[in-house]
Amino acid sequence: MEDLVTPIGRATNDPRSGNRTTVVLLHAFPVDARVWRRQATALGEDFDVITPDFRGFGANAGGAPVGPFTLADLAADVKRLVDELNVGRVVLAGLSMGGYVAAAFAAVYPKMLKGLVLVDSKTEPDSPEAKAGRAEMIALAKEKGASAVADKMIPKMFAPGASAALVAELRAMIEACPVSTITTALAAMRDRPDRTAAVAESGVPVLVVVGQHDATISPAAARAMAGKIPGAKVVEVDGAGHLSPMEEPEKVTSAIRKFASALK
Ligand code: MLT
Repeated sequence: MEDLVTPIGRATNDPRSGNRTTVVLLHAFPVDARVWRRQATALGEDFDVITPDFRGFGANAGGAPVGPFTLADLAADVKRLVDELNVGRVVLAGLSMGGYVAAAFAAVYPKMLKGLVLVDSKTEPDSPEAKAGRAEMIALAKEKGASAVADKMIPKMFAPGASAALVAELRAMIEACPVSTITTALAAMRDRPDRTAAVAESGVPVLVVVGQHDATISPAAARAMAGKIPGAKVVEVDGAGHLSPMEEPEKVTSAIRKFASALK
């Protein structure tokens, strides 16, 4: 079995205390738990927060190349982690690929969730064009490595005018991601099924957060998706692109805090 995700970002309080709601923050592709570092600290004031790295990413990137996995496998890793922590029902938030995994989790383990937050993410599968793009990106990663992937992705990740410091932070995370993890995750994202109906039928309260300038999943697309999920709320993050937790951290923290605080 692959290593369980490592809760490197376990925040200010011990989530085993059982007194507070636990919020689990799942990272995007091809980055790692550090993408949530601003929220981990801020949300840690009110919740127990864990920010795991998926297998092959971040603190789990060392050692042998990661074997093939599906996004459902990553959801099962998260389930094992939550079981181990013994914290009861959690609020699960996923950024982009992390949201695809969170939706897979909600489809199979809805009773483990107080709420689901999809940030710059969606429940729908890849379009045929997106699937073709995955093949190109896999070839690029194999041929030219993670820095070529960073070159290709970074222009689409932030709103226009993102600071050089933010871009450098993102580049460092992408370049730290092993090529084997990049190619495996691309195939897993390409092959993910549509989780919209499963999430809609799960009965889990859903919050959709989307960057105003998200070039990957537009606010219009996010609203259309939310419209298929009974009761789903949408928060549009002014001034943010695809990685809104990095670009507009307080706004994303505030949206998650408000949603999670109201959950039973
Ligand atoms: C991500 O940010 O996780 C990726 O852009 C998701 C994707 O490629 O579909």
